[in-house]
Amino acid sequence: MKILVVGGGGREHALVWKLAQSGQVEQIFTAPGNGGTDNPAQNWANVPADRPPAVFAQAEQVDLTVVGPEVPLAKGIVDDFQAAGLTIWGPSRAAARIEADKAFAKSFMERHGIPTARYAAFTDFEAARRYLRAQDGPVVIKASGLAAGKGVLIPESPEEAETALRRVMVEREFGAAGEVVVIEERLSGPEVSVLAFSDGEHLALMPPAQDHKRAYDNDAGPNTGGMGAYAPAPVCPPALQEEIRRTVLQPAVDGLRAEGAPYVGVLYAGLMLTPRGPRVLEFNCRFGDPETQVILPLLQTDLLEIIEHSLNGTLHRLQVQWRPAAAATVVMASGGYPGSYRKGYPIDGLEEAAALEGVIVFHAGTARTADGRIVTAGGRVLNVTGVGDTLTQALARAYAGVRRIHFTDAHYRTDIGAKAEVRP
Ligand code: AMP
Ligand code: GLY
Repeated sequence: MKILVVGGGGREHALVWKLAQSGQVEQIFTAPGNGGTDNPAQNWANVPADRPPAVFAQAEQVDLTVVGPEVPLAKGIVDDFQAAGLTIWGPSRAAARIEADKAFAKSFMERHGIPTARYAAFTDFEAARRYLRAQDGPVVIKASGLAAGKGVLIPESPEEAETALRRVMVEREFGAAGEVVVIEERLSGPEVSVLAFSDGEHLALMPPAQDHKRAYDNDAGPNTGGMGAYAPAPVCPPALQEEIRRTVLQPAVDGLRAEGAPYVGVLYAGLMLTPRGPRVLEFNCRFGDPETQVILPLLQTDLLEIIEHSLNGTLHRLQVQWRPAAAATVVMASGGYPGSYRKGYPIDGLEEAAALEGVIVFHAGTARTADGRIVTAGGRVLNVTGVGDTLTQALARAYAGVRRIHFTDAHYRTDIGAKAEVRP
């Protein structure tokens, strides 16, 4: 089989790595890919940036396309491929609204009794400001559309809340994503990501994962795309996973089917575990990044087999198996990220790190030069994943890998998983 993976980060390298383990796969293309997915020795190649994925898939007779990021899904890549007679795995444009349109997601959750923060949605600034002034507790302000994970503002005072509202609705800091704004009650508690494979009707849950959004240790500094992750997260034991399946994920899949937009692909619930129970902060219509880099190394079942069952509506016939192990990933970033940074630095020690027991090095912002060297090419450069019997061992392995790798101005957090480790 020939497979095309759409996307170019660490999540996509992890998808390629896992798909390559299937006996049926001969060749994997990634569009646009990175230095890790461009690997002639494995028969992996990147698609030139000027070739639209649908044209490439047609021309190369690709058997299956798998989509990583939300933007192509929200634009309807699944609908377009299907209309062209191509096999593609992921939610349709209508189903991807669960991530791409937060106002829709909130009203959908309300219709289907899915637990989430109280909210109101507005298109008119004055009406939004009146609502804000009538609130007596803290709020969160969200641009309704896709804003590359940046459209959520957490004001510390009523004055800051009004400024935040102005930034989104009047100054249009997030562009068209701020045409509709969602004002939400602010919740508190630990966060967890619970992802599931869906065939439109049946679900198979993945081990719960935890992301680390802030740039520096002790959750300091600006928000990033994610500086590290681990799974399974002890904060979400099996009974809670079951509650989340019953009260969140199954009602979401049933609700989308009932509304004429059956959800096929990976459904991601970002949750806050409040004293009153789990509450949905957001749904994503795809695998998480960097959660995927810790979830897929724990997956025992052939991913291609899961995808085939998901596409055929037969996920309930498959027993998806997970290794009784733990995984942790540490993001090595370019100095300056998430602000400006330089690119093109050579990376040393990749092979030494990957040769360590239980270490997998996923590439994110890297490129392969004409003479075959790997250089930095983005903000998040590498995701060094450790797998072990316990989280402590997985973390030790990930950091042992990190210590073998060198490039100019490399930055990483030294406290990934620290909160989970001390938890009883
Ligand atoms: P989202 O993209 O909606 O998941 O929001 C990004 C981050 O903002 C989350 O990971 C939370 O840390 C925070 N957040 C979102 N909604 C709320 C809320 N209602 N209460 C408290 N924090 C929130
Ligand atoms: N790690 C958060 C996300 O993928 O949205």
